[in-house]
Amino acid sequence: MKEKKTTLLAIETSCDETAAAVMECSGGLKNPRFLLHSNIVLSQIKEHAPFGGVVPNIAKREHTKHLPGVVARALKVAKIFDPAREIDALAVTVGPGLEPALWCGITYTQKLAQEWNLPVVAANHMEGHLVSPLLGKKRFDLRGRSNLRFPALALLVSGGHTELVLVKNWLEYEVVGRTLDDAAGEAFDKVARMMNLGYPGGPIISKLAYKGNPRTYTFPRPMMTAKNFDFSFSGLKTAVLYTLRDLEKEKKKYSKADIAASFEEAVVDVLCAKTKRAALEHGARTILLGGGVAANKALRLRLTKIFGAKNVALSPLSLTGDNASMIAGAAYFHVLTDDFTNWKSLAANATLAL
Ligand code: KG4
Ligand code: ZN
Repeated sequence: MKEKKTTLLAIETSCDETAAAVMECSGGLKNPRFLLHSNIVLSQIKEHAPFGGVVPNIAKREHTKHLPGVVARALKVAKIFDPAREIDALAVTVGPGLEPALWCGITYTQKLAQEWNLPVVAANHMEGHLVSPLLGKKRFDLRGRSNLRFPALALLVSGGHTELVLVKNWLEYEVVGRTLDDAAGEAFDKVARMMNLGYPGGPIISKLAYKGNPRTYTFPRPMMTAKNFDFSFSGLKTAVLYTLRDLEKEKKKYSKADIAASFEEAVVDVLCAKTKRAALEHGARTILLGGGVAANKALRLRLTKIFGAKNVALSPLSLTGDNASMIAGAAYFHVLTDDFTNWKSLAANATLAL
């Protein structure tokens, strides 16, 4: 197993962020360390916002247009002038995600792999979110040792996924719970749309919730007490819709902030109750939090309160959303086990599981 320094160039185009990062990884599976040299993220939010969600063909068009520039910038910021010699491997997200968007990153990586004669890791987007809490400097002590202990339990909450993953070790994952319908981020986005707040809804709702009273409306906590670790958010979303409809029908004055706060409280209650039960059942020693919804302050605070600050590893706020440094982090584990994919056989897998 190689424990020497590995410099990776990672590319991420699974959804609406065109991203590239250069990261130096070392320490091996036992004590992985990450030094981020560059992390370029170009958001397409402005292009998709008028449609209230991500439009796959627009995502494809924008990735195609911007990826070469984003990669060039990532190399420049990292002061890499001769990639064929200075980069050890490439990494690209092959799934899960939007197929036309994933292919943009893949075809460009194929071109680079051929040109620079570099090996490629086919990276899993969710493994990226899972690794993202490790990328914060606070996760390491003065000697650079991570204080993460196995088994760990990861709560991954994004626009497309809501999963509880038992992490027995790096590369040894077991999904113990998942959403049966909407993902947590999707529920935030849909509730925001109901109140015409704009896209993406998560950051807008959580900002608004801060000013509201979470006890104004008692929204359902779907499956909170069910004896499994699965989630369901579509009933909660519908309950918000009916409440809004009734309020408007009765021409009652209401505060959007109170709706947002009550909705957010219900989501946080369910996510945290399930995480707590799964952690107890599986003897988890560290809780990891990653994915776009990991930016939610109420969720971060509640998890920290339940488990204690030293037992939770939260994705740094700058890396909760999609980025390529998390893809480099996940890819490093695969480099260590020589898990490379021939560039010719790289393919998008929209529903790739962990
Ligand atoms: O991981 P991500 O950037 O993209 C996917 O892989 O899906 O997650 C995006 C999701 C969106 O649904 C967005 O509304 C949500 O993360 N989000 C938030 C917050 N910031 C982003 N949800 C709740 N609170 C936030 N502060
Ligand atoms: Zn994501």
